[in-house]
Amino acid sequence: MERIKLHDKTFKPYMRESEVLSAIDDVAKSINADYKDSCQPPVILCVLNGAMMFTSELLKRLDFNCTVASLKLTSYVGTRSTGAIQVPTAIHGDIRDKNVIVCEDIVDTGNTIEFLSQYLKDQGAREVRICTMLHKPDVYTKDIKLDYIGRCIPNDFIVGFGLDYDELGRNYRDIYVIDNE
Ligand code: IMP
Ligand code: MG
Repeated sequence: MERIKLHDKTFKPYMRESEVLSAIDDVAKSINADYKDSCQPPVILCVLNGAMMFTSELLKRLDFNCTVASLKLTSYVGTRSTGAIQVPTAIHGDIRDKNVIVCEDIVDTGNTIEFLSQYLKDQGAREVRICTMLHKPDVYTKDIKLDYIGRCIPNDFIVGFGLDYDELGRNYRDIYVIDNE
């Protein structure tokens, strides 16, 4: 694995694709165990764009009936962060009265999932569970339970496997960390 350059920053290798996939194997095992006897198919909700790659790998490993939905979130209006998370378009898919499993690329402070949990309940979801590929526990400030976590990592800025730096880097199959040297 080589270093990569995205915009003005350089990133160095951090986690190989094989390690990410093995974390997803573990998450899928837990979800499969929890939903094997479920009467109603849950909705796997992909949070775009970051969780696209994670959600597709996870879906391939789930062995119970489920439906898929997606939504896009943004915390920016123009070039300025408003601090508030917004849903620019409606959810693609039906979540009313459904058990929803939110798939996130990474949970950092928890602002996003806190907003999202409330939003989905307001939209009529029966139950909301959170599934995240990665988690930075050192900076997490919320009380919301993270039901399924792939791997916990330190508070480093990473890209790849769906994660971006200013929209670049999502396409890399391995994960890279910012190189401060
Ligand atoms: P939170 O709202 O602070 O939990 O942040 C969650 C969102 O911030 C994630 O869905 C990512 O889009 C983004 N994010 C957090 N940490 C990183 C990172 O290390 N690299 C890229 N995006 C990140
Ligand atoms: Mg995201």
